[in-house]
Amino acid sequence: MLTLYFSGTGNSRYVAERFSSLMQADCHSIEGDLDFDKLLEGNDTLCFCYPIYGSCVPRILREFVSAHQSSLQDKKLVLFCTQLLFSGDGARVFTDLLVGIRYQVIQAEHIRMPNNLCNAFPFPVKDADQCKKVFDAADRMLLSAAARIRAGTIRKRGFNPFSKVLGFLTQRFFFQKIETIAKSTVRVSANCNACGACVRRCPMGNLRLATDQHGQRHVVQNGNCTICYRCVNICPSQAITVMLHKKVTHQYHGPVQ
Ligand SMILES: Cc1cc2nc3c(=O)[nH]c(=O)nc-3n(C[C@H](O)[C@H](O)[C@H](O)COP(=O)(O)O)c2cc1C
Repeated sequence: MLTLYFSGTGNSRYVAERFSSLMQADCHSIEGDLDFDKLLEGNDTLCFCYPIYGSCVPRILREFVSAHQSSLQDKKLVLFCTQLLFSGDGARVFTDLLVGIRYQVIQAEHIRMPNNLCNAFPFPVKDADQCKKVFDAADRMLLSAAARIRAGTIRKRGFNPFSKVLGFLTQRFFFQKIETIAKSTVRVSANCNACGACVRRCPMGNLRLATDQHGQRHVVQNGNCTICYRCVNICPSQAITVMLHKKVTHQYHGPVQ
């Protein structure tokens, strides 16, 4: 089995790594510089882990799937979507990307994880103790999923028509438009000291440092943001916001915190 994940702030990576160690599967980020077609073709069962954004698969993962479509033929799929609260059909929506592809979903779960939308009222970022409880619950879900897979029991969370309608009407319908606008909504405040941490860590190469006519360095964007909130959460000066521009007071540093 091969696990591939995208993780903006660490939650989906946590799920991917925990599950892979339970299943003794290879585990890689889609940000890696690997021969993914070879990896995909060499495995019959693939696990994909990703955060859900407004009941949509992150654009970076959609683009990955589109680039590797032909290597995804005839696979068994395990789908884990990580979420703060609710996505309706956040795991099922991955299968919408597999146009003309034969596949069988053998496990699909929505796994609640801590909030990484660190400046979104009314969802405060949890403290370490609260996060620990969430991770423990996730661990239990993963143990059950692994046991079901070993027993050959299929479970597909969010694959019924009701979940699909809920995911679309409550979130996806609006979020698809927000996502397009949000591609170039990175805002950098005067607190930025141009350390370049966001530039180095952006998974889309959306950010770069430019020097103005006074010799000052600034972070500028290329209109390619996938809204993963990594830069918002790692900026040492809490100077970056994306999509939502409320001041950041408490960043989410992922499962390592
Ligand atoms: C732009 C954005 C949109 C999100 N939308 C949802 C959502 O619709 N439902 C939900 O429950 N969580 C939502 N979340 C929360 C994340 O899905 C959740 O915290 C996830 O575990 C983050 O995973 P990561 O650390 O691997 O990036 C959203 C987060 C972001 C950044």
